[in-house]
Amino acid sequence: MSSEKRKQIKTKLHSRNRNRERYDLQALIVSNPELENYIKPNKNGQDSIDFANPVAVKTLNKALLNHYYGIKNWEFPDENLCPPIPGRADYIHYVADLLGEHNFGRIPTGDKVTCLDIGVGANCIYPIIGVVEYDWKFIGSDIDPKSIESVQNIVNSNDLLKGKIECRLQKNPKDFFYGILDREDQIDLSVCNPPFHSSIEAAQEGTKRKIKNLTGENVKTPQLNFAGISNELIYDGGEYKFIHNMIRESKKFSKNCYWFSTLVSKQSNLKGIYKALEKYKVSHVKTILIGTGNKSSRIVAWTFLSKEEQKKWRDTRWKTK
Ligand SMILES: C[S@@+](CC[C@H](N)C(=O)[O-])C[C@H]1O[C@@H](n2cnc3c(N)ncnc32)[C@H](O)[C@@H]1O
Repeated sequence: MSSEKRKQIKTKLHSRNRNRERYDLQALIVSNPELENYIKPNKNGQDSIDFANPVAVKTLNKALLNHYYGIKNWEFPDENLCPPIPGRADYIHYVADLLGEHNFGRIPTGDKVTCLDIGVGANCIYPIIGVVEYDWKFIGSDIDPKSIESVQNIVNSNDLLKGKIECRLQKNPKDFFYGILDREDQIDLSVCNPPFHSSIEAAQEGTKRKIKNLTGENVKTPQLNFAGISNELIYDGGEYKFIHNMIRESKKFSKNCYWFSTLVSKQSNLKGIYKALEKYKVSHVKTILIGTGNKSSRIVAWTFLSKEEQKKWRDTRWKTK
């Protein structure tokens, strides 16, 4: 590989991430011609996208999903959270590695693997990546009926996704697994990108900081839709409380799921999260560092299954005959 090419590789991304190399803007414009309207030179004079403009970012994401993942139709309301694709893909690749590590180095693929995405949003991003990369089946839950409707529309309008993703509305915002999983359901993995902020004011401050980092500008009243509608980003007690409550409830579903997992954005929340995992007596915890661009984050995964139960799980669900 030439040194020029190596320089352009985003080495912080997972080795199987489809976006490790600099975006091929010309190819992306072919996928989504609208993108041409949002190309402008960056400070080094290279063609780039205006990352502070939510419409530009959404247009880029549509092009990325179309070009790299074969997703032709990805429509959802502009007020909803628009996810950075490479970062979301990394979560899926790292949890796929986790399953592989516990399966003699072979990542289980195909519809023998069922994954629950807690808080699928309106964008359906984790199921999209999981289906395209590993052919897994997904259950996507959310407390917002409009998000569930939006995910259903995305699934219905992409042949690739049909029959692979089931949407389930969580009617009680305090619950995560109750009301979504039946007693006999078995899922191999749960994933989650929790609401981060504890209040609308905190969400607005966060958005201001994000805009300042991207543009250097101070904005008084930022558009929240830059990063998603309030419900998607806000939970009373913030990320920590959401994860804590999820861990507590996961105990009740300890035999229904092999690996539970969540993204943890705030490093300072880790200590309390580990304490909760200890309190609820999980049998195994795994922390996976993930870093995209300037931001580093982590996935925390846990299981209640004993070594023998894990073996039985693999043998009955993942073994290829
Ligand atoms: C930060 S967004 C993540 C959206 C999407 N997964 C993504 O990564 O872009 C969090 C989502 O969790 C949903 N949510 C909040 N409480 C929930 C609960 N108890 N069960 C399921 N989803 C919930 C919100 O409505 C929101 O869509």
